[in-house]
Amino acid sequence: MAKRKRLKLKEPFISIGRIGGIILAIILAVFLFYRYEIHTIKRLGYSEKASQFILFNFKKSYVKSVHYSDTLNAAFESDSYNEKYLKYYAQIDYYKGDLLISNINSLIEKKYSVSEINVILAHGSLEDVRDFAKRDKVVYLDEYFEYSFARIRLYDRYLAYSDESGENAYNTIVYVNLGIDKEEYNEPYLVTKFSKDMLINKHFSLNKNFVPDNLVTISSEDSVDEGIKLNGEAYRAFKQMKSDMNKEGLDVLINEGYRSYSDQEELCDYYRNLYGDNYVSKYVALPGFSEHQTGLAIDLSSTSTRTFSNSKEYKWMLDNSYRYGFILRYDSRLITETQFNSEPWHFRYVGSDISNYIHEHYMSYEEYYAVNLFK
Ligand code: DAL
Ligand code: ZN
Repeated sequence: MAKRKRLKLKEPFISIGRIGGIILAIILAVFLFYRYEIHTIKRLGYSEKASQFILFNFKKSYVKSVHYSDTLNAAFESDSYNEKYLKYYAQIDYYKGDLLISNINSLIEKKYSVSEINVILAHGSLEDVRDFAKRDKVVYLDEYFEYSFARIRLYDRYLAYSDESGENAYNTIVYVNLGIDKEEYNEPYLVTKFSKDMLINKHFSLNKNFVPDNLVTISSEDSVDEGIKLNGEAYRAFKQMKSDMNKEGLDVLINEGYRSYSDQEELCDYYRNLYGDNYVSKYVALPGFSEHQTGLAIDLSSTSTRTFSNSKEYKWMLDNSYRYGFILRYDSRLITETQFNSEPWHFRYVGSDISNYIHEHYMSYEEYYAVNLFK
């Protein structure tokens, strides 16, 4: 049998192979050690990016000494990270967004304390905070910002309004949030999205082409005129309410529901010609400012009594409509906020969570909005 020839490598090849193997082993060991270190940092809650930063900048013992914090994680991930402010980051509440760390740095530079920074961050968007951080340090932060619904971008208007009106902090914030410190119809907020909790009044307006979601035509048995439309959910709630009212021998009809921008324009002109501007300012919204354009408002009449406010149905509505998601919208005691005179016939569908709350706490829809929904 022929003998197999063994491949014999020459010496230099052996040592290159050996060295290569050793290098590979070292690389592998370093890599495994690196992954192990990253893994232990990530187990504390940090992201891959933040963990790499922590490892390469020797912050591992620091992060082990403090509780995990989303803000600290964001700081380690951010290009705005500033070593000088490291001890602050973990104490500051987290808000999602790229500006968070640069905002915190600016506020620290302005000498705000950690607790003040937390207050500021809680009362505005990151863009609002960025703008606020550009101004000189504000001294009287507590007076307004103990209220969660105060907004830092309105700080100067709160001061000006309270100086001018002498109102307490709560009312000042509510009125300024609502724009009541400005002239009626002047620089309104533009509302673009339909929702059953939308606020439309002399300071919150709709575009000419705004049409509410889910408009349905209401049946003739429920209405005075043919073709009145309403938001479908509001109409379902109305039907249930009317049916329960009927069981008690009472009945209502809808005179008005959805009104388009141009319907409102016509209505305004009609009443202006008939009764003048003063009447319009108290009872009829300018086009774009009527909540009838939301499809969520109804004007009611009683089938038995000519003046709705004298009817049993009105009394029933005051006692019960909240159970179906409706509120009396223009109340004689709430004119400062609604800025319209009392309209006993006008009810607004807001859904039963809000209507129950308003029934329990007695407040205008404006106040509810300024405190709970204003952004
Ligand atoms: N009458 C109410 C205020 C409206 O015109 O919408
Ligand atoms: Zn109305």
